[in-house]
Amino acid sequence: MADQVEFDTLALRAGIHRSQFGEHSEAMYLTSSFVFENAAQAAARFTGGAEGNIYSRFTNPTVSAFQERLAALEGAQACVATASGMSAILAMAMAVLKAGDHVVCSASVFGSTVQLFSNVMCKFGVDTSFVAGASLAAWEGALRKNTKLLFLETPSNPLTEIADIAALAALAKRAGALLAVDNCFCTPALQQPLRLGADLVIHSATKYLDGQGRVLGGAVVGERGPVMDGIYGFLRTAGPSLSPFNAWVLLKGLETLRIRMDAQSQAALQLAQWLEQRPGIERVYYPGLNSHPQYELAKQQQRLGGAVVSFEVKGGREAAWRVVDATRMISITANLGDTKTTITHPATTTHGRISADARKAAGIGEGLLRVAVGLEALVDIQADLERGLG
Ligand SMILES: Cc1ncc(COP(=O)(O)O)c(C=O)c1O
Repeated sequence: MADQVEFDTLALRAGIHRSQFGEHSEAMYLTSSFVFENAAQAAARFTGGAEGNIYSRFTNPTVSAFQERLAALEGAQACVATASGMSAILAMAMAVLKAGDHVVCSASVFGSTVQLFSNVMCKFGVDTSFVAGASLAAWEGALRKNTKLLFLETPSNPLTEIADIAALAALAKRAGALLAVDNCFCTPALQQPLRLGADLVIHSATKYLDGQGRVLGGAVVGERGPVMDGIYGFLRTAGPSLSPFNAWVLLKGLETLRIRMDAQSQAALQLAQWLEQRPGIERVYYPGLNSHPQYELAKQQQRLGGAVVSFEVKGGREAAWRVVDATRMISITANLGDTKTTITHPATTTHGRISADARKAAGIGEGLLRVAVGLEALVDIQADLERGLG
């Protein structure tokens, strides 16, 4: 392929290395291990003296194709695919942190990410401070001499809070720390954090990269070098590797990523505008709305607002559950990023395991609902929500 190839072309063509059979669609290499020609070749591959696959916990051609394609879409040199989004965050944390290190993390991150830093990494001597993700002063104030990692999501799950990637990248650089951005909500189709100065991008490929709610997967993306080598080293040893079957499904997902993100973002904006006019609603959270506190920043760093709309209904948990239970089409499920619209009550599901104080600090109220807008007709999504809101 030519050097300067457009995003849409990379989404279809990057990472293709045809086998001797000349298959058109990417081959799915469902194999645990690879056969050596002789003992000397086996030994050479194990010592690293010869290139080639050994075992699918280390490398697999279908997984490599997915890694190559996602790296190309993020504008990066390297990608390590993992079994899930959480194992991507774990692999990154285990590779870049050691006992005595400190992390600054946005308080507005996915519930399991809070758990991972506050309950798991702390057992290994890694301390984490949680800060208001949108406040640069809060990030700066939380920095310590031993801060090694800044971690955030933008837009955040579920409140779509926007963090200033370029400003935080500069801050991280001054502090001698790495900036990792969970790009789950935007995907590279809408936002490319590495181009804004971030060091690492995290993905829950389970979400929009698959796009159709079929498989779990994850990835860490960054520049080639010791950090990415360390992440790969952890994965190869500890084993939360992506399965070749899932990698193949994700390759197919990437082919339609930009088209889906555009269509779902446009529908989400219209839904958000419609919700803002509804009487039973306290507040709508969507980065593409003028009323969003970081609307201007969102416009600078994202191409569109994304497909997740959160809103606070008047009447707390009871009113929120009424909206959920009145739906007949929208799926009541914890996942997002699907072409089928999903609805979640974060306070009792995705963020139910974090403490009430942490939930309050993250601004997740009892009346909050998160809708991940899919590709159904917008009028049908509206009619399904109208029933419970009315
Ligand atoms: C923003 C974000 N990051 C990470 C994850 C974790 O991904 P996975 O479920 O693939 O482990 C999720 C899951 O919902 C998420 O929403």
